[in-house]
Amino acid sequence: MILGLDHIAIAVPDLHAAIARFCEDLGMPLAGREDVPTQQTTTAFVPVGDTRIELIHPIDGQGPVQGFLDKRGGGLHHLCFRTDDIDADMQRLTDKGYRFLTAAPVPGAHGTRVVFIHPKSAGGVLIELAEHPADAGHA
Ligand code: CO
Repeated sequence: MILGLDHIAIAVPDLHAAIARFCEDLGMPLAGREDVPTQQTTTAFVPVGDTRIELIHPIDGQGPVQGFLDKRGGGLHHLCFRTDDIDADMQRLTDKGYRFLTAAPVPGAHGTRVVFIHPKSAGGVLIELAEHPADAGHA
């Protein structure tokens, strides 16, 4: 079951400049940085209200986020919804004809399990589902 908006992700060509924009210029806190090897990205989280902005930058110029930057420059990359049962939601959506970028959830930041719905299945929007360890099994 979807619980809320976990984060909005922005692909950034310059992580330091993006952190300066959100944290120094806009005045939001920086909640930490983490490398996410499964996505070949390094991420910085900026909490705002009940959700977060996730700044994503490719590690070593590799991976799908680098492809996104090469094609479009920086910009809005994906929405992530928090779920308390990622396997059940994935099955439910697969039954409705949705396609996913991976066959099963993979490890994300902060001990989450994440999976991405193919944007062609979702009107051109890349949607991530994330299950946090604290929420799992509480359905
Ligand atoms: Co994300």
